[in-house]
Amino acid sequence: MKKIYITTPLYYANAELHIGHAYSTVAADVLKRWHKMFGREVFFLTGMDEHGEKIYGSARAAGMDVQNWVDTMAEKAKKLWKFLNISYDDFIRTTEARHTKTVQFVFSRLLEKGDVYRGVYEGPYCVSCESFYTENQVRSAGGNCPDCGRPITEIKREDSFFFRLSKYGRDLLEYYEKNPEFLSPGDKANKTIDTVRRGLNDLCITRQTVKWGIPLPADPSKTIYVWFDALINYITAAGYPSDRENFSSLWPADCHIVGKEIFHFHTVIWPAILMALGLPLPKKVFGHGWWTLKSDKISKSRGNIVTPYEVCEEFPADVLRFFFLREMPFGSDGAFSMDRVRERYNSDLANSLGNLFQRVEKMLKKYFGSKTPPAGEFVSAIIEKEREVLNQTDKFMSEINFYSALTKIWKLIDEANRFVEETKPWVLFREKNEKLNNVMLTLADVLFFTAEILSPFMPGVSEKMFGHLGGRLGKPSPAAAPKNREIPGGKVLFPK
Ligand code: MSP
Repeated sequence: MKKIYITTPLYYANAELHIGHAYSTVAADVLKRWHKMFGREVFFLTGMDEHGEKIYGSARAAGMDVQNWVDTMAEKAKKLWKFLNISYDDFIRTTEARHTKTVQFVFSRLLEKGDVYRGVYEGPYCVSCESFYTENQVRSAGGNCPDCGRPITEIKREDSFFFRLSKYGRDLLEYYEKNPEFLSPGDKANKTIDTVRRGLNDLCITRQTVKWGIPLPADPSKTIYVWFDALINYITAAGYPSDRENFSSLWPADCHIVGKEIFHFHTVIWPAILMALGLPLPKKVFGHGWWTLKSDKISKSRGNIVTPYEVCEEFPADVLRFFFLREMPFGSDGAFSMDRVRERYNSDLANSLGNLFQRVEKMLKKYFGSKTPPAGEFVSAIIEKEREVLNQTDKFMSEINFYSALTKIWKLIDEANRFVEETKPWVLFREKNEKLNNVMLTLADVLFFTAEILSPFMPGVSEKMFGHLGGRLGKPSPAAAPKNREIPGGKVLFPK
């Protein structure tokens, strides 16, 4: 059976990872956990991009042997992912033997096929983006890198190999047209389509002077260009070319999650490589927006990074996970600030969600001796809301729309808080009104339901909620709260 296959970019092992990198990884993790919650088979891949001039340079600047350097960086990344509750299934490093083998295989295959050919490269290169540009592109960017604005390096006549990217323009356009979901979100599609329509140049895929890379089987004095190397990771990890069974259970990928600055590599170059190999293309590439500080992209080179550890000096990791996906639509840019995190924490977590839990637990304690009511019917208006949330959030999540899914869930939480105000359980209790059972059973149901449906977003917080509720039900299902069940309660979930 085909598993849902989700990936993050492989992060460069050149510098400390920051909240920008954590953003993509958290998103992929939430998606994985979401599908798992419904019993779907999922495979989630992340890892490190460890070759190339940039990484070689960082290791040297730190006075370290390059292999030691990338080993250290990979360990740090794994530690960070553990800290953020990331549940990846595989962590691939481009320096691993399994990957070298696949990349060399792909290169040889395309060479045989005539889709890779010998030539000479000369022209501008940006080490930071590890990207080739045309003279025109650099001229219109005032002599600097058109993507990151940094100074450009000139490559002087290198004997190279090229990938026949130009051959695949028409097939790419046809694929985009037939698979409108591939370029996601939709507003990012036009730029890609325009670029391909204008015509693609063949891509230089080897470097003569860069020694820290995968050697060319045909000519070991050269190494493979770092992007050609890195993109192939997605099929290496799936077992290509030798592990056919595994490969057919994973490939094609369902969603590559990437930042918008590397959308082009994933939506033009990568599918063309796959076409050349005769492999099916990923179903979706989602290009998400950037976290910014004073309108500048958060990045190491701009010297404005914020690490997840810094944010989590004040809040548990789950709060950052939640903030990432609740604060702005996944395709947009957003300004990061600790004040915004604090505001979200106070309004959505402490006030809305935390308050609901506290009130309902207290009332269950007082009216039913810390149990759910022994009898009663669910109030259909609220149960209907849960049903609606369940259906709509699953649809949103399949569109990688975390923002709308969370907005929907918070509508239910707000609705439940309003339901408490409107039904006034304390009055029903005082008046020994039988409706108290219905109201409290329904409210308990909302607690079970929200604890489950939020578990992909905040697994640690959900664990705590399940502790309060005396265990979990397994998946979010409306009208599932058992009667007469012990509700142990616990400490305030989101202390102010
Ligand atoms: N190594 C390449 C990717 C190869 S994938 C086959 C690379 N690495 S990177 O370390 O630069 O990571 C880029 C990714 O980090 C972006 O695609 C994005 O996912 C994330 N982000 C880095 N800075 C970011 C922000 N300021 N905001 C949001 N995400 C950003 O590119």
